[in-house]
Order: sequence, then structure tokens, then C-alpha cells
Amino acid sequence: MNIYRYEESNKWFDRAVKVIPCGVYGHFSPAPYAPVEAYPFFSNKADAARFWDVDGNEFIDYMCAYGPMVLGYNHPAVEAAFQEQHSLSDANSVASPRMVELAELLCDLVPVAEWAFFARNGADVTNLAVMVARAATGRDKVIAIKGGYHGTSPWMQAPGHHGTIADDHQHVIRIPWNDLNALDQVLAEHGSQVAAFMASPYHHPIFEDNVLPAEGYWQAAIDKLHKNGSVVIVDDVRAGFRLHLGGSNEHYGFKPDMIAFSKAIANGYALSALVGTDALRLDAAKVFHTGSFWYCAGSFAAAIACLTTLKAEKGPERMRVLGEKLTSGLRDVAAGHGYTLVVSGEPAMPYLRLADDDTLMLQQAWCGECTRRGAFFTSHHNWFLSTAHTDGDIEKTLQIADDAFKVIKSEFGH
Ligand SMILES: Cc1ncc(COP(=O)(O)O)c(C=O)c1O
Repeated sequence: MNIYRYEESNKWFDRAVKVIPCGVYGHFSPAPYAPVEAYPFFSNKADAARFWDVDGNEFIDYMCAYGPMVLGYNHPAVEAAFQEQHSLSDANSVASPRMVELAELLCDLVPVAEWAFFARNGADVTNLAVMVARAATGRDKVIAIKGGYHGTSPWMQAPGHHGTIADDHQHVIRIPWNDLNALDQVLAEHGSQVAAFMASPYHHPIFEDNVLPAEGYWQAAIDKLHKNGSVVIVDDVRAGFRLHLGGSNEHYGFKPDMIAFSKAIANGYALSALVGTDALRLDAAKVFHTGSFWYCAGSFAAAIACLTTLKAEKGPERMRVLGEKLTSGLRDVAAGHGYTLVVSGEPAMPYLRLADDDTLMLQQAWCGECTRRGAFFTSHHNWFLSTAHTDGDIEKTLQIADDAFKVIKSEFGH
């Protein structure tokens, strides 16, 4: 099997660090990638479920641009819709009818949605959701989950993160996931100040097994929060439209007051949406929130095409089946080499961990060996399936995984 080398990628990285702080920042940064030499950092070409790095190495992509690529790169219907709208008008001085059509589509698809508000990134709409909840309740505090991620605004970052100050976190109370006693305790102590509870539909932290909601957790939490007069916000930025087209809450059978979407909504075009119930419409109208690119019409057209295609192709069902095939196949390959691969989260967005080593080094080594053979796996973050992945991709991935296990077995033993 061909083992990839990354000479051109490294040359671009050397150029990048001279002019960009840390070269490649945020979730694409080399920081969580270990061993770092197993990973490419620059790519100029992607199609369907693959990307090619600047050295020409081809990867079956299990990160899907960290979520946005849900139908596959260069999906014909999405590209045609974007191009058609873009050639008419993208940035403009007044709003596009495509925005209204997309809001109508979301109100149709998502049972909770009685209105929709659009922005560009996930954090734009998690921020907006908190502002709406604070406006609606006249309260300050937000309950969030330990290890939950809602974007990079200072209040959302962990205390002590570079560049944040103590005041940023003053009104954020973090409790463990699935812990109704902890919720009771916070409501008992701070109830009259709690504007909102924000959580992803299931817990998908990095570097840890992902955890689904316990039976009855969401409904019990909603009942307590509503009794307290607090607003319930689901951050569906990561999972949205991969588990259920009506919002991941429909997959689990509960209804929040607002849902934040982004990532998969427009198959790679920059867009996010906050949807909510009628009771919050007036506050959503009164909160001032906007951005220079928030009205660009091409992304609205891309989102309409993306959601329509996902619906026609039963996208969430297909990704679940593909994810189950991939993860059960990988588990079997691991077992064949005497390793235990623990799969957590949802099949369309699985998190995998080799249980045979607590240090993560074995897992990192295996993900690295798979990546340098053409299956782009991260060791710290959940992966993503798309509808563009094929059974053939999965077969090839299992062969790559098998080869990678042979290498790590000779290095690490077990
Ligand atoms: C659950 C969740 N919420 C919010 C965000 C922030 O989205 P963005 O990076 O588009 O601002 C992310 C991004 O990864 C996310 O996974």
C-alpha cells in the first residue's frame, strides 16, 4: 500500500507560519493532530467523498470539512442552484427572495420552526439564541454542558482560555451531561436568573466517547426549565440534518424552543439558521444581529437545493446505514488484530476509540497510519459520513484499516 508523503503540504505550511499566526488556526490547526507528520494540511481539490492534498494524495474523507459536506463535494444540484443564483445576484443591497423561500422550507421541514433567522456561522446563531432568550426572560444566566461546544465567542469558551476574561464566563453555568440532579441544583440556586439552557442534542465532546441522551432526559429537563420560565435551546450546528431533517430533537422525540443549525445546511456554502417558536418571534425581531455577508443569496439557494436533495434521497437514513457498516466493519477488523474499538455517538457521526491504551497514543498512531494510506481519520473528534460515501469506499477503508493495524501491532505490540 502506498504510504503518503507531504512535501508540498509542508512547504505551504512553512510559508503560512510566516504570515498567519500559527499557520493554520482553529479546528484545522495541526495542534490536535498526532503524529503530526501523518497528516496533510493543504488541499486544493475535492469531489464527492474525497479530497486530494497539494501533494496529489487522495483521501476518502471521513471529516467532511468537519460536517458541512453532507451530500458530497461538488454536488451537482447544489452547485447548479448556487451558480444560477450567483450569476443573478449574491451580495446585494437588498434581501433576496431565496431567503424567504428557505425560511418557508425550514418552517415546513422542522416542526419547531415557526420562524427562521439566517447568519453565516454556527456561533452567529448560538449567540443570537442566547440574546433572544435573555430578551424574552429579562434574565442573565445560561446553563450549558461541561465539554459542550457552541463556537468561539468569549462566553462560549472555557474559563482560562487565552484572551478571555473572568467576566465572559460570569453568567455561564456548566453542568454534566445527562445529569438532572445537577440541573435541579442550579435551578434551586439560580432559578430566577436562568434565561436559557443550551446543549447539543447529544453530547459530542472531543477526545472523549460521545454520549446519547439518557431515556427521558430531554423531556424531564424541558419540563423543569419551562416550569422555571427558562428557554430551551438545542445547538444542532454539528448534528443538524444528519440524524433527522426536522432537527435532531425529532430523532430523539422532544421539542425545544429554538434550534441553531449550520454546517450541513447548505452542503459547504456558508450559512447558519436559528429557528424558533412563535412565543419568541417578537424578541427575535427586536434583537439587533447582522453581518456584512449574512444576506448573500447564493448560500440560500444552495441550502434549498441541499435540504430538498437530502429529503428526496432520505439522506439521514442513508448516512446511518453507511455509518453502521463502516463502524461495525472497523470493529471487526480491530478484533481480528486483538484490539477493541469502542464506537460511540451516532452512526452518521461516530467517535471511535481504541480501548487498549489509555494514553490515546495507540489510537493516534492507528488514525495516522490510516490517513497516510488514504482514509482521513482524526483521533480527537467525531467523524462524519455523507451521502456521497459508497460501499466501495467503505470496503477500501476496511482494507486500509487492516493494513494500519498490522503496522501499529508491530510498533506497539498487544
Ligand atoms: C455543536 C457546535 N456548535 C457551534 C459550533 C460553532 O460553529 P461555527 O464554527 O460555524 O461558528 C460548532 C462548530 O464546530 C459546533 O460543533
